[in-house]
Amino acid sequence: MQAGRSLEVKSCGDYLSPMNQSVFEMLRGGRTPLYLAPQAGVSESPFRRLCRSFGADVVVSEFVSAEGLRRHDRRTHEYLRFDDAERPIGIQIFGAVPEAMAQAAALVEEVYRPDFLDINFGCPVKKVVNRNGGSGCLRDLDLVQAIIRAVRSVISIPTTVKIRSGWSEDSRNPVEIALRCQEAGAAVLTLHARSRTQMYSGHANWDEIAAVVEALEIPVIGNGDVWSGEDALRMREHTHCAGIMIARGSHGAPWIFRDARAALDGHLVPGPPAVLDRFQVVRDHARLAIEFERDEERAMIEFRKHLGWYTKGLPNGRVLRQALFEVTSLAAADDLLRSYAEKELVSGPVS
Ligand SMILES: Cc1cc2nc3c(=O)[nH]c(=O)nc-3n(C[C@H](O)[C@H](O)[C@H](O)COP(=O)(O)O)c2cc1C
Repeated sequence: MQAGRSLEVKSCGDYLSPMNQSVFEMLRGGRTPLYLAPQAGVSESPFRRLCRSFGADVVVSEFVSAEGLRRHDRRTHEYLRFDDAERPIGIQIFGAVPEAMAQAAALVEEVYRPDFLDINFGCPVKKVVNRNGGSGCLRDLDLVQAIIRAVRSVISIPTTVKIRSGWSEDSRNPVEIALRCQEAGAAVLTLHARSRTQMYSGHANWDEIAAVVEALEIPVIGNGDVWSGEDALRMREHTHCAGIMIARGSHGAPWIFRDARAALDGHLVPGPPAVLDRFQVVRDHARLAIEFERDEERAMIEFRKHLGWYTKGLPNGRVLRQALFEVTSLAAADDLLRSYAEKELVSGPVS
C-alpha cells in the first residue's frame, strides 16, 4: 500500500483503542494489539502517552531493577510514575533472585497498580547479564521458571515475560524457553527473535516467532524489525502472532502505530506526516516531557535524542540537528524549527 502524503496527524484520542478493553480481550479477540516496547531511556511516560495517542494499544515501562525497587531507590521509583491515560500498561522488572523479584513485583502491584507485570529475560547488556539478570537467566531455565513462579504467587495481575531466542547462537532454543515460561505460568510471552549475542545486529528471525506461536497456548507477541506499518502486517501474516511489539521503529516516528493499525485493518497506510505536522508532534512531545520532568532545562537535555530522531532525513537537517542539540528550552527549539521551516519549506509542502 502506498503512503498517502496528505493525511494530517489527528489529535490525541483519535486512534485510541477503547480504554476498557482488556489486553486479553484484544489478544484473544483477534485485534492484534500493538505494543510500545519497553525501552530504557526512551519508553518513558511522555513517549508512552504520545504513542498511545497514535494508536499503541498497550505500553510497557522501561525495565527497572528488582534490587533498586526493594532498596526504595528514588530514581528507580521515578521510572515507574505513569498517567492513567497510558493504560493498559505493564511494568517491567529484571533480576535473578526469585525471592527478590517476588518482593519487587508485590511492591509494584501494591504501589503502582499496573495492568500487568512483565519480567525481562531479554536484556543483553553486560552490567545486567553479569549479575544473571535479563537474558543472563536464559542459561538456566530452572531459574527462569523459579522467577516466574515466585512472581506469580504474590501478585494478582497477570505475569508476562519477554525473552530473546536464546543465550547464544549455538544455544538458540526459543521454543524450549517459551514452553518453560508457559509451564511456569506466564500469561503472555513476547519473543524478540534474536539471541543475546546478536544484541541488535542481523535480522530478527520471524520463523522462530512462528514456531513459538505454533507451540504455545498462551498469546505470543512478535517483536523485532518492524519498521513500518507494512512490516507489522507482514509479521502477522508470517507468524500469526497475537500481538506486535515495536521499539526502534517508533523513534522519532510515533505514527508508526497509526500506520501499523491501518495496514493490519487493510486500510491505506497514511505514512509519515508532512514536516510541519511532524514539528507539531515534536512540540506536543516536548510539552509532555517538560510537564512530566517539571524542570524544563533537564527535560530538554534528555529530549535531545528525540529531536535527533525527529529531524533525521530532513533536507539540510544536519545543521538544524546540531543547533537543536544545544537547546535547553522549548522556546529555543521552537524558534529553530520555525526558522528551518521558513528557510527550507517555502516552496510548498515538503514531507
Ligand atoms: C534504547 C533501547 C532500550 C531498550 N530497553 C529495553 C528494556 O528496558 N526492556 C526490554 O525488555 N527490552 C528493551 N529493549 C529491547 C526492545 O524492547 C526490543 O526488544 C528490541 O529493540 C527489538 O525490537 P525492534 O526491532 O522493534 O527495535 C530496548 C531497546 C532499545 C533500542
